[in-house]
Formats: sequence, C-alpha cells, structure tokens
Amino acid sequence: MQTINSIKEMQTFSNREMGEGKTIALVPTMGFFHPGHLSLMEEGRRRGDFLVVSIFVNPTQFGAGEDYEDYPRDMERDQKLAEETGVDVIFTPPVDEMYPSDYQTCVNVEEVTRNLCGISRPAHFRGVTTVVCKLFSIVKPSFAIFGEKDFQQLVAIRQMVSDLNIDVKIVGMPIYREEDGLALSSRNKYLTPDERKAALCLFRSLMRAKELFRQGERKTEEILSEVMSIIKAEQLAEIDYVKICDVKTLKDIEQINQETVLALAAKIGKTRLIDNIILNPSDCI
Ligand code: PAJ
Repeated sequence: MQTINSIKEMQTFSNREMGEGKTIALVPTMGFFHPGHLSLMEEGRRRGDFLVVSIFVNPTQFGAGEDYEDYPRDMERDQKLAEETGVDVIFTPPVDEMYPSDYQTCVNVEEVTRNLCGISRPAHFRGVTTVVCKLFSIVKPSFAIFGEKDFQQLVAIRQMVSDLNIDVKIVGMPIYREEDGLALSSRNKYLTPDERKAALCLFRSLMRAKELFRQGERKTEEILSEVMSIIKAEQLAEIDYVKICDVKTLKDIEQINQETVLALAAKIGKTRLIDNIILNPSDCI
C-alpha cells in the first residue's frame, strides 16, 4: 500500500493507471476508520482494479463552533486497517494544498441540501460537494463508494454528478451498525458510557417506525410523533429533526405512497448523531 500526500503525485498515479486501461475505485473519508468505512473499502475493492481511499478532514464542511479541531484522527491506525482491507493507495493531501490562500470556487447543490441537516448546518453540504468534486478531479475514479448513513450527502453527491456530467458511478452502501443497532460513526468516540446507552433510543425509535409502517400506518404525522416520543423519553437526547422525505427530492411528505426516508438528527449530550431508515410501500406487498 502506498501513501500519497501530494495532489500532483495522485494525479500522475491515476493518469498512469488509466492509461493502462485500469479502473480506479475511490472511497472518500475523513479517517478514524470503523467497520462502516471498511465495508465501503471492500465494495471498492470489488469494483475497481485499484482502490484509493482518501483521508482528509475537510475544514469547509464544518461550521463555526463545530468539531473540526477535535475531530478524531489516527493516521497510523487507519493505515494499518486500510492495508489489511486491501487498499492500494491512501491519499491524504494537506489542507493548504486543497485550499491554497487564493482558493475561490465551490460546488453548491441547491434543492436537496435545503431540508434535514441543511437547516441546522447551512454551509455543510457546499463543503462536502466541493471537496468530493475536487477529489473526483484529482483521483479520476470510475467508481466512488459512499454510505447510506449520510443519506442526504449521498443524494447531494448523486445530484452533483448528474448535474455536472461527472463520469463516475456512485455506489451507495447500507448502514453498518453495532450489534445493538447503533449506527457506526467516528463521532461515537465522543460518547460517555451513559450517552452510549442513551444513543440507542435513536435505533429503537426507527425500529418502532418500521413496525408501525409494516402494520399499515402511512400517515407521516402518526409515525413521527411516536418516533419523537421515544427519543424525548431519553433525558440525554435532544432532537434536531425527525422527518419523512421523498428519497430523491428530500422534500417532506405527509402520506407515504412512495419510497421515503425517515431521517433524524439528535444530540446525545454534546455529540450530534444522525441515522435513517427507508420506508417503501412496495416492500410491504
Ligand atoms: P466520513 O464521515 O469519514 O465517512 C466516510 C464515508 O463512510 C461516507 O460515505 C459515510 O457515509 C460512510 N459511513 C460512515 N458511517 C457509516 C456506517 N455506519 N455505515 C456505512 N457507511 C458509513 O462522510 C464523510 O466522511 C465526508 O463528508 C466526506 C464524504 C469524506 C467528504 O469530506
């Protein structure tokens, strides 16, 4: 496994491999790997001749007062895990190469980034799509793998790729969960043992929603009020949003007649966690 720090060197690598007819799969990450990240890498390895994993804690997707400085980092451990998973190249560019002092361009996907996390994190998705667009032009992947855990991010990236005619296939991978249901996240590291227990209310609330849906409930309001009451019963939890949206437009819907996502964000203590499930009437036929 190779570690490449410079953008020029990464481009030279990709140009050479593409010139030889090889395909590249890219897994963009901010590092501090957990099994969710590794599941994306395994898919990447199946898809491309070469597997590149980027590790870049992207400052432009963190708002003021968010956890950019504290975001967990462990390059040595990440390198070891990546190597064991069959990664060919770790690309980890320095911030001042990605954003030199005269940097001025951004990619803003308009509509699908307005709802859900876009309400409390207004500049977040602009940072995400900008950095992912840059990574695509540096690494030139044929496949790029993302997790459905960050559902809105995945929708925004698909929209960007379609709008800007970027020649890459976006692959979405299911949410990887702990045995008790908590969705894996690098931020779970912030949770105290009590908060870790409290965080389970999120998965519990989603499972209750699924149960109601399977029993035939189609009114968003009814499902959301049960989900919220389960989360509110947990003292350490504070809801940011719980919504049911169309999977493509991410607009709120009232009655579930199409494929939808039930997405939520909540603070457990100081840690903001997100999770989601798909509610699709055609799964119940
Ligand atoms: P990061 O949070 O490191 O996540 C990297 C990738 O891992 C994303 O596609 C994310 O959806 C996926 N992922 C995280 N937790 C997962 C889980 N439990 N199961 C499955 N996949 C999971 O997302 C980012 O970084 C950044 O925004 C990035 C796209 C790299 C742009 O900076």
